[in-house]
Amino acid sequence: MSLTRKRVMVTGGAGFLGSHLCERLLRDGNDVLCVDNYFTGRKDNIARLIGDPHFEAMRHDITFPLYVEVDEIYNMACPASPVHYQYDPVQTTKTSVIGAINMLGLAKRIGAKILQASTSEVYGDPTIHPQTEDYRGNVNPLGPRACYDEGKRCAETLFFDYHRQHRTRIKVARIFNTYGPRMHPNDGRVVSNFIVQALQGEDITLYGDGSQTRAFCYVDDLVEGLMRLMATEDVETGPMNLGNPHEITVRELAERVVRLTGAGSALVQRELPADDPVQRCPDIGMAKRVLGWGPTIALEDGLARTVEYFRGMMAERAAALATREGVHAT
Ligand SMILES: NC(=O)c1ccc[n+]([C@@H]2O[C@H](COP(=O)([O-])OP(=O)(O)OC[C@H]3O[C@@H](n4cnc5c(N)ncnc54)[C@H](O)[C@@H]3O)[C@@H](O)[C@H]2O)c1
Repeated sequence: MSLTRKRVMVTGGAGFLGSHLCERLLRDGNDVLCVDNYFTGRKDNIARLIGDPHFEAMRHDITFPLYVEVDEIYNMACPASPVHYQYDPVQTTKTSVIGAINMLGLAKRIGAKILQASTSEVYGDPTIHPQTEDYRGNVNPLGPRACYDEGKRCAETLFFDYHRQHRTRIKVARIFNTYGPRMHPNDGRVVSNFIVQALQGEDITLYGDGSQTRAFCYVDDLVEGLMRLMATEDVETGPMNLGNPHEITVRELAERVVRLTGAGSALVQRELPADDPVQRCPDIGMAKRVLGWGPTIALEDGLARTVEYFRGMMAERAAALATREGVHAT
């Protein structure tokens, strides 16, 4: 056993990003404590980790205090997709704000290093492109996305106040659109939406005319960036953008998904939701300079892996359904 094994806590560890992070941290020889209330996270996401003596899963809502002993905390807990964070907007803000206070309080008490999963949403509907970390954003504080955007902005404020006031060792990552296996199939996010629609042979829904651009980072690249940021010297607090600066239009993404899945889906247009940003693209100059980090996985490859994941998941569900129906029929 390694004597230098770190104890690392991942809040939101059963979610999309959190579960990949737990897996990678374990692979790198750490002890991992996954804390999750399973609001959007799934036990399936961490099923393969259960039984590993260096992994522990704890059901807990971070809006309540937590007393554990760890060396590092990745604060990933928060529903990330609009359908989920708008389902109970008050709880979303509580998770970001009260959750941050609880996790920062814990980090302060035990002297742990803490990383916040912030978001490109802190830039709102940006007026500069690409977005650099010193851009202060253009957020509508009253709109339906505000519970998430303003919650995350307030969490950043708390991180920097704990740092200034209590010398807490903080890292703030501003994560841009990330995709990959284990995205929630019904989260309404563009990549999962398109793939699920295509695999089900349905038409693909474009909100607006599909000319809005997005930039997509594959999950493994993102996890690498988060871990590199955590490993930096204490002076490197961020905020730091992590994402893929390669932009494509949403229509182009839909066309690629149709090609990759071999689906016969048509593209149909629906009205653009309120406050949907027209363009979002990270400037990752800081991450390149400080972490030597940049995305390495091409969209085509990442999409192919994600399509395979959803194909497998849908086949499993269809088989389970067929078995249940067979049982009822006999
Ligand atoms: N995926 C992205 O593209 C993206 C982009 C920007 C920022 N982020 C941030 O990264 C983090 C993870 O995002 P994700 O895409 O994995 O989302 P996700 O919804 O898959 O994961 C969030 C996890 O947090 C858990 N959770 C929610 N509220 C909780 C609470 N009060 N207490 C304990 N657990 C709670 C959920 O059950 C889930 O497992 C979030 O903080 C999100 O804001 C993600």
